[in-house]
Amino acid sequence: MTTPVELRGAARWFGAGHTEVVALHPTDLSVEAGELLAVMGPSGSGKTTLLSLVGGLDRPSAGKVLVGGADVGALGSRDLAALRRRAVGYVFQDLNLLAGLTARENVSLPLELDGSPLATARAEAQAALESVGLADLGDRFPDDLSGGEQQRVAIARALVGGRRILLADEPTGALDSITGESVMRLMRAHCDRGGTAILVTHDAAHAAWADRVVFLRDGRAVDEARPAPSHEFARGRATGDGAVAGPSSGLGAA
Ligand SMILES: Nc1ncnc2c1ncn2[C@@H]1O[C@H](COP(=O)(O)OP(=O)(O)OP(=O)(O)O)[C@@H](O)[C@H]1O
Ligand SMILES: [Mg+2]
Repeated sequence: MTTPVELRGAARWFGAGHTEVVALHPTDLSVEAGELLAVMGPSGSGKTTLLSLVGGLDRPSAGKVLVGGADVGALGSRDLAALRRRAVGYVFQDLNLLAGLTARENVSLPLELDGSPLATARAEAQAALESVGLADLGDRFPDDLSGGEQQRVAIARALVGGRRILLADEPTGALDSITGESVMRLMRAHCDRGGTAILVTHDAAHAAWADRVVFLRDGRAVDEARPAPSHEFARGRATGDGAVAGPSSGLGAA
């Protein structure tokens, strides 16, 4: 099976000469189906740069970024746009919900832009809203939703239409811990259904929901950890009973 996300010596730099900034040094990284990867690191360490490359929002300066087997750096702009609409969902830190559209319209927008008939797009949007527990709030405008509800609309929009790769840049940043945990539960459920997700976070409690944590510093992956296996039991994955109680402690060592 094709690896959903693969970086092969992927690097990104800005400028040239003495003003050059290397945002990401050559990096190798694979993220498998079913895997939730957390990326942690100080401000300026290259987290958003890495996520933008995987999301097809940016192209590598060197090396390759393969998404679903497609070489992002080699795709033309139409194909890149199609990849972004069909395969990869991106949750931005500031969410980017459109205030003039209802929750359902926000979620159906990517499908409508992709040429889906309106009725199909709205039905898929409703299903996506249901999957994040917002079945009854589709007619509300973003300003009439709580921060956590807005966050879930943004996740529904990222997943609508069956997109398999979910990228989230600090989606829990502005949320209280309970709401942040519900966002993590959604990301975990997406991966437990066979999806793939990369989460940028500063919060070790959220990273503990991941299968693997990569630590960036100065544009380099400097360390990797796997949250303790006891969390597998805490999530109910080992018993398959679907219980998704959160991890109770911090990160375990690799
Ligand atoms: N368009 C750009 N032009 C020049 N430098 C850039 C550009 N984008 C990012 N950088 C630089 O690349 C480095 C990595 O930036 P990046 O946004 O990936 O960091 P980050 O880890 O996401 O930080 P934060 O936690 O603050 O969001 C930083 O030094 C940043 O200033
Ligand atoms: Mg960032």
